[in-house]
Amino acid sequence: GPTNMALTINGQVRNLRLEPRVTLLDALREYLDLTGSKKGCDHGQCGACTVLVDGKRVNSCLTLAVMAQGKQITTIEGLAKGDELHPMQEAFLKHDGFQCGYCTPGQIMSGVACVSEGHAKTDDQAREWMSGNICRCGAYPNILAAVREVAG
Ligand code: FES
Repeated sequence: GPTNMALTINGQVRNLRLEPRVTLLDALREYLDLTGSKKGCDHGQCGACTVLVDGKRVNSCLTLAVMAQGKQITTIEGLAKGDELHPMQEAFLKHDGFQCGYCTPGQIMSGVACVSEGHAKTDDQAREWMSGNICRCGAYPNILAAVREVAG
């Protein structure tokens, strides 16, 4: 049956009462109104649902909300600081790293992890890391350029 849980999302503790089988993605989208994380495939194939859990990239559709308790969850909504965009968001704008935009939140979260975890040192390395994030519009070269720029 429903279980009480407390999730720390973008630095804020949110209390929820959910069935233990509810995914982190559904908790964010359906119960917390954080709809930036997208549901593309709902089974770990597209990356549209990517968030950070304790700084690590996670497919939120494959993660149970209850398992994310006590961890720092960061979603696309938490990246900008007030009016100041995160450098990865700036880079996506500069390099036109999106077309329809559906995959963009996941791409950006994956890009942030790519850089912070040190997987963006070469084009090939970054391309490999980002390969779990599908873009139907084929904006891959621009996405790669954005990630590589932030990597320096
Ligand atoms: Fe999670 Fe596609 S919705 S990987």
